[in-house]
Amino acid sequence: MLLRTVYLSLDPYMRGRMSDAPSYAPPVEVGDVMVGSTVSRVEASHCAGFAVGDWVLSQSGWQESALSDGKGVFNLGARLEHPSYALGLLGMPGFTAYMGLLDIGKPKAGETVVVAAATGAVGSVVGQVAKLKGCRVVGVAGGAEKCRYAVEELGFDACLDHHDPALKELLAKACPKGIDVYFESVGGVVFDAVLPLLNACARIPLCGMIAHYNDSKLSPGPDRTAQVMGTFLKRRVRVQGFIIFDDYGSQFGEFQQQMSAWFAAGKIKYREDVVDGLEHAPEAFIGLLKGKNFGKLVVRVGGETA
Ligand SMILES: NC(=O)c1ccc[n+]([C@@H]2O[C@H](COP(=O)([O-])OP(=O)(O)OC[C@H]3O[C@@H](n4cnc5c(N)ncnc54)[C@H](OP(=O)(O)O)[C@@H]3O)[C@@H](O)[C@H]2O)c1
Repeated sequence: MLLRTVYLSLDPYMRGRMSDAPSYAPPVEVGDVMVGSTVSRVEASHCAGFAVGDWVLSQSGWQESALSDGKGVFNLGARLEHPSYALGLLGMPGFTAYMGLLDIGKPKAGETVVVAAATGAVGSVVGQVAKLKGCRVVGVAGGAEKCRYAVEELGFDACLDHHDPALKELLAKACPKGIDVYFESVGGVVFDAVLPLLNACARIPLCGMIAHYNDSKLSPGPDRTAQVMGTFLKRRVRVQGFIIFDDYGSQFGEFQQQMSAWFAAGKIKYREDVVDGLEHAPEAFIGLLKGKNFGKLVVRVGGETA
């Protein structure tokens, strides 16, 4: 079948595909199409189960159209209210937030949850689900506008700017009972501020380290491995990395049902940052690694109508 790309998702993992350092997936070779999830429309089909006009979730990559034999393509149906949501809230990032928080973080009512990259595709969902579970939620985000949004729109109890030199002191004030769950997506100064506040038996879903994706060598300064590992040991902290579809793929249906119901009931809010034109994808992707996006970053590649 012939698929026409309507929305292309831009995600931090793509940085790893542009590097030949060892990773859980091989890099994209020079000359290949850059990988990426898309929401596309079927323009012509000889594949059973796919008709012209259907919306599909596909791995078409950074291109305007793609030929597909249907393998790994998910039919979303002919009518969709929010087609691009399949790349965010109802897709991979929402699923990452849901499983990482609930299965690894195991938040209990009354506990304090700190979430990094708090207004992004993953973080905004982590914080809202933690609120639904009755937790105190403190976000960390880049800039006053994002922090205001996290509190006023997403309902977090507090949100702190990671550019503030007083982050450590401010985080300690915002977490008077310490931190029970830290949803880690960033590393850097955010992790440094969190470490001293971790409670006994705290959990850290280790989702990402975006502050370090552009690093090409070890950060300068003393080796702090012993201090960090010693803190984990003494406070009996559980840290678990995860790669969402490798670890939880079989639970995607369950997640979609629950998240769609929460969204329909107005319990979860969702914000997108839509960039127009495939030619702007590289610039938008570079911006993602610097916090220029505000909400889930997608590129509108073509028009929605068939
Ligand atoms: N393990 C998995 O299976 C899995 C799956 C999906 C995503 N992830 C990870 O989850 C994290 C969030 O992904 P996302 O798709 O939701 O992206 P996102 O949060 O929508 O966008 C990335 C955000 O990261 C923050 N950031 C970028 N550079 C930073 C820096 N140097 N220091 C502090 N914050 C920085 C920025 O927010 P601020 O402006 O607020 O700083 C930026 O908006 C990433 O680490 C990603 O790799 C992991």
